[in-house]
Amino acid sequence: MSSHVVVLAAGQGTRMRTSRPKVLHRLGGLCLIEHVLRAASSLSPASVVAVVGHQADRVKAGLGEHAALKFALQSEQRGTGHALMQAAPHLTGKHGTLVVLSGDVPLVRAETLQRLVTTHEAARAAMTVITAQVDRPHGYGRIVRVEGALARVVEERDASDEQRRINEINSGIYAFDLEPLFVALEAIPAAGSVNEVYLPSLVTLYRRQGRSVETISVDDPNEVRGINSQTELAEVKRIVRQSKNEELMAEGVTIEDPTTTYIDADVTVGADTVLHPGVILEGRTSIGARCELHAGVRIVDSTLGDDVLVRNHCVIERATVGNESRIGPFAHLRPDTEVGRKARIGNFVETKKTRLGDGSKAGHLTYLGDATIGAGVNVGAGTITCNYDGRHKHPTTIGDRVFIGSGTELVAPVTLGDDAYVGAGSTITEDVPTGALGVARGRQVNKEDWATSRKSGARTDD
Ligand code: UD1
Ligand code: CA
Repeated sequence: MSSHVVVLAAGQGTRMRTSRPKVLHRLGGLCLIEHVLRAASSLSPASVVAVVGHQADRVKAGLGEHAALKFALQSEQRGTGHALMQAAPHLTGKHGTLVVLSGDVPLVRAETLQRLVTTHEAARAAMTVITAQVDRPHGYGRIVRVEGALARVVEERDASDEQRRINEINSGIYAFDLEPLFVALEAIPAAGSVNEVYLPSLVTLYRRQGRSVETISVDDPNEVRGINSQTELAEVKRIVRQSKNEELMAEGVTIEDPTTTYIDADVTVGADTVLHPGVILEGRTSIGARCELHAGVRIVDSTLGDDVLVRNHCVIERATVGNESRIGPFAHLRPDTEVGRKARIGNFVETKKTRLGDGSKAGHLTYLGDATIGAGVNVGAGTITCNYDGRHKHPTTIGDRVFIGSGTELVAPVTLGDDAYVGAGSTITEDVPTGALGVARGRQVNKEDWATSRKSGARTDD
C-alpha cells in the first residue's frame, strides 16, 4: 500500500521565546524538522507535505534542499487538527496510509515509523497512535484506556488530577487510513476559548463511530520527546550528542571526554582517531583515520586526511588538509584553504583561499590569503601576503621549493618562481624569477659610539 506523510510545522513555538520558528532550531547540525523529514523518507512515501504557517517563508527557505517536499499553508494556527486539514488539497483522490508527524518531535526512528505503518495496515485500523511510558508526562496528552483499549487522549490542560498521573503519553505521531480522515476532521468540535481543533480528538470521534483505533508503544521514551522549550531542546541535544559519540566510539574512535565533545549528526571520523576534550566537529566534516585533535579544536564543513595532528585551539572552516599534516596550535584555516600532504601550519597562522603544497611549512605568525604555494616551500615567521589594496583582492603565486625569509611582505599580485629565495625582512613588490634571490629592504647604517656617548650625559633633545 502506498504511504503519504504530513509534517505539522505551522506553530510559532511560543514557549521557546525566540524569534526563530521552533522547527528551525538546530539539533546536531540539522534543524528539528530536517530530522523529522529524514525519518519520514525511510518510508519512501508517495508524497510529503509540510504544513507551515508562522513565518512560513522562513521555514520554507530553511528547507531548500528537500525538492520533493510540498507545502500547505495554515494561515491561522488553530490547532493540530486544523493544521492537518490544510494538507487535504494535496491528498484528495489519494488512498492508503497517511503518517502524520510533528515538526517538534525529532528523534523518532525510521524503524518505529515502519512498525507504525505495518501494525496499522495489518490491523486495518482507521487510526494508530504511537505512545510511550515516560517518567515525567507533564505537558503531553495522556492516553486514557478503558479495558486496555485506547478510549481518548486528554490534553494536560483538560486533564483531571487523576488523569495527570497517567504516565502513558501521546507522541503526536499517527498513522491514518486516508479514506475517512478528512471528512472526520471536519466533524471535530472546536475546543477551548481559542477555537482550536485538536487532532487527538479524532480518537474520541472514531471510537464513537465504531472505527478501530490502535496504538503501538516505543520502549525508549527519548524517541518521542517533544521540544517545546529551551530546556527541552538542550536535553534533546544532550541525548543526540551522546548517541553520536557512542556510535563513533563503537567504530574505534577514542573520545577522551564525551561530555565535552560535540559532533554533528553527519560528521564522519576514522578509526584510531583520538579526540581530546572540547573538540567540536560541525556540519559536513570528515576526519580520517589515526588523527589526533587536541583540546579546543573546532572544525566546520572540512575534510582532514589520515594521520593528521591538530594541536590545541585551532579553527578550521571549509578547508581540506592532506594526510600526515600538522596544524596549530592556535591556527585559523578559513574557507577554501587546501593544505597538502605532510605540510605544516604552526602557531598563529591564518590562511584563506590558499593552497599550500605537499611538505610546505608556514610555522609561525603568518597570514596567507589568495595564495597558491607549491611543494617543499618554507614560509618564514611573520610572512604576510598583502592581498588587498582596499578595493580588490590580488593573488600571490609561489613555486616549488621556495624559501621565504622571516618578516617578509609579499605585495600582491606577485609571483615567486621555483627555487627562488627571499631575504628576511623584504617587502616584495615585483616578481622574483626562478632560482633568483629577491631582497627588498633598507640598508643598515651603524653609527659608531652613538649609544655610549648618549649615556655619558650629552643631551640629545636640544
Ligand atoms: C501535541 C498533542 C499532545 C502530544 C504532544 C506530543 C495536540 C492537541 N496535542 O501537544 O497530545 O502529547 O503534541 O509532543 O495535538 N502545529 C501546527 N498548527 C497549529 C498547532 C500546532 O502546525 O495550529 C504544529 C506545531 O508546529 C508542532 C505540532 O503541531 O510541530 C505540535 O504542536 P504543539 O503546539 O507543540 O502541541 P503540544 O502542545 O506539544
Ligand atoms: Ca509539541
